Amino acid sequence: MIQVRRIGHATLETPDIDRQIEYFTGIVGLVLAEREKDRAFLASKLGPLTVQVERGDVPRCARLAFEVAPDTDFAAAERFLAGEGIKSERRNDANPGVRTMLSLNDPNGVAIDLFPEWTPLALGKEARGIGVLKLGHLAHVVEDPRKLADFYCRILGFRVSDWIEDWFVFLRCGADHHTVNFVVGKQVKMHHMAFELKDWAHLQTACEVFGQRRIPIIWGPGRHTAGHNLFTYHRNPDDQIVELFAELDLMKDESLGYFEPKPWHRDHPQRPKVWQGSEGGVIWGPPPTPDYVRQRQ
Ligand SMILES: [Fe+2]
Repeated sequence: MIQVRRIGHATLETPDIDRQIEYFTGIVGLVLAEREKDRAFLASKLGPLTVQVERGDVPRCARLAFEVAPDTDFAAAERFLAGEGIKSERRNDANPGVRTMLSLNDPNGVAIDLFPEWTPLALGKEARGIGVLKLGHLAHVVEDPRKLADFYCRILGFRVSDWIEDWFVFLRCGADHHTVNFVVGKQVKMHHMAFELKDWAHLQTACEVFGQRRIPIIWGPGRHTAGHNLFTYHRNPDDQIVELFAELDLMKDESLGYFEPKPWHRDHPQRPKVWQGSEGGVIWGPPPTPDYVRQRQ
């Protein structure tokens, strides 16, 4: 098994690169680190490459990059993947700040890039907009969440944090409650991408930015059940859902098997579990709007 440690960045294809750059720098508050004709690299204000945008016919999430331990043996990883019948390929200098990566495809056809080391980008450049801290997680609509959960756990070392009934699974690769999640739906596509904010006050600042820019909030603010994060969702100019969150559950010690206790938990301690749909997805906050719900219809 390969042991993924952290999500790095997502690669989004888009028919309008300039519009996506303006959104991710002006609203989300990433920093433009490098720009080429048909692609651009955006870092968080803390330095890690966070979003890559590339020219494509339709908006989609084409690749996800994950960090592995610095001493990861790529030759052994290649042998393991070959034994599982999974093709992989080494790439050099594919991203600024990343020397080498090992790439494979997940069962949805999203490319997975594994990288053992990186250097920060665009340090010292001022962020505009909300100024998110990091890419937190990526959710996809899939036909069979169990199949994706099995792949990410068996091949990449993820663990199941929660299910909502049998149609929404949350997977972790480090302390964060989830880094990838899969929800059942009719058409395979990205469901949402999520960026972490510092705290509740930062989330309010984000809502004020949405108010000023006339960007509708399509769900929230509220506190989720699975993961217990404070959340708000909106759509970007490519009609993709973007979540901003804070206070996500953390499993600081895998051997204990529960999430760091918090006052908003209803189970003590809070262990991975199967939530019922009747619990509504929120500890508090409004229900999702139709503009949110349509993403998996
Ligand atoms: Fe999310």
